[in-house]
Amino acid sequence: MTVVKPVSYEFLETNLDILAETKGRIAVIVPPEGKMDPATRRVNRLTKGALARLIDAKAADAKPGKTVTLAYPTGMAAEAVVVLFLARNANQTDARKAGAALAKLRGKDGMTLCVGSQRRAAEIIMGLALRDYGFDDHKSADPDKDDRTVRVMATKPDELSTEAAPLLAVAEGVFFTRDLTNEPANVLTTTEFAKRLSDMKSIGLEVEVLDEKKLTELGMGALLSVGQGSVSPSSVVVMQWNGGAKDAAPLALVGKGVVFDTGGISLKPAGGMEDMTMDMGGAGVVAGAMRALALRKAPANVVGLVGLVENMPSGNATRPGDVVTSMKGDTIEVINTDAEGRLVLCDVLHYTQDRFKPAAVIDLATLTGAIIIGLGHDKAGVFSNDDALCNQFLRAADTENEGAWRMPLGQCYADLLKSRIADLKNTGGRPAGSVTAAEFLHRFIAEGTPWIHLDIAGVASVKAETQYAPKGATGWGVMALNRLVSDQFEVDS
Ligand code: BES
Ligand code: MN
Ligand code: ZN
Repeated sequence: MTVVKPVSYEFLETNLDILAETKGRIAVIVPPEGKMDPATRRVNRLTKGALARLIDAKAADAKPGKTVTLAYPTGMAAEAVVVLFLARNANQTDARKAGAALAKLRGKDGMTLCVGSQRRAAEIIMGLALRDYGFDDHKSADPDKDDRTVRVMATKPDELSTEAAPLLAVAEGVFFTRDLTNEPANVLTTTEFAKRLSDMKSIGLEVEVLDEKKLTELGMGALLSVGQGSVSPSSVVVMQWNGGAKDAAPLALVGKGVVFDTGGISLKPAGGMEDMTMDMGGAGVVAGAMRALALRKAPANVVGLVGLVENMPSGNATRPGDVVTSMKGDTIEVINTDAEGRLVLCDVLHYTQDRFKPAAVIDLATLTGAIIIGLGHDKAGVFSNDDALCNQFLRAADTENEGAWRMPLGQCYADLLKSRIADLKNTGGRPAGSVTAAEFLHRFIAEGTPWIHLDIAGVASVKAETQYAPKGATGWGVMALNRLVSDQFEVDS
């Protein structure tokens, strides 16, 4: 199975003399005051002043990132000249949005992007890379023969290439997450998922797959109870990136990897059930973040653990009313087999703390429909026992334009999980459904361990295109986690 990669970028020194003969599309950047850089001036001369007229007409009230296309310009071989309006001192967000706008105009014969000495060129390229994504693996049409290269002409191409490299590594992580999340469940089985993660050994990650035998030995009765109705074997995959100080406690990322969630015996209704192919979105983000960190060789210690299971009804499936025993030892009454994500995560969270003694734990899960009712599709729910860590994360998410909103925790919510016959039950009823789910996980976090739970049910995959992604999987979270690691968990190198 191929993995979609970001468009390839070539960094070249600005060469005005090839602009006349360049095919495909040429993009130039013009600040709102209309001042032309050398490439823009050359295009203007070639087109006998057409560009100056365009700028005169459009520059004054152009919002940052606005594009105007001049098609089939006389005097040039290009199929179009795209003018991007953006200030030289644009902020990161505007630069990325501008790049995303360019992505839609790349065309089939590639793009030559003249950035000159634009200060935010790397961020423009990042925006372009993120938005230039499509999941076409399962379309039978001819694999497109598009020229997917973007040639970036810059005053200092080597410096720009060095500056863009870590950003493009993150974009590749985001793409990895999107591919996993978009993949149908007959392709991305638990076994195939584990294989794709194991393949990341080639980029320097340590990867181990814990199979059902090992999970049974470890006592992960809660996780195993979810997968027991499926013919696909359950597993936990452990990824380690040790780029930081030797023996420094790692940041741990933990992901829900339900490759398909039918609801189990508490079967979901048919309408929309196909969307449950994305119920491994949390594990997908963990995998994409680990990929980004490895590709940019982050000087930090980070471990990523994912619980991979399929929630199916069968003669061997867990029944409502069954009592299972978690690795921690707490017994759980399974009221609803559709509240399976927390059963998977509680065991992986316990194992993660037991084995790695992490400095902090962040889990990601498409955990509840209730978070979609509460926050919709633009912001993930953030639950935390640690204000400092939580605020650091919220700042990182804000910087990366990934929506996030803090939600409460509290004993009154935890109390809703009391069971008549076991230590706790796996649902707390409809009120505050996302909070009781978070409190379920909280119980498996050791006192004093800073922890964040991210409920990404609303943001992992969406029905309309977003700023940086076409409809479908967004890769939400990879950029925020990468930013959090670079802001808070890296050793000075
Ligand atoms: N995977 C679902 C949550 C979900 C819903 C993700 C919609 C993405 C879109 C989760 O396993 C689930 O079924 N949760 C139940 C919990 C309930 C039974 C307590 C829910 O939200 O209805
Ligand atoms: Mn479910
Ligand atoms: Zn689920």
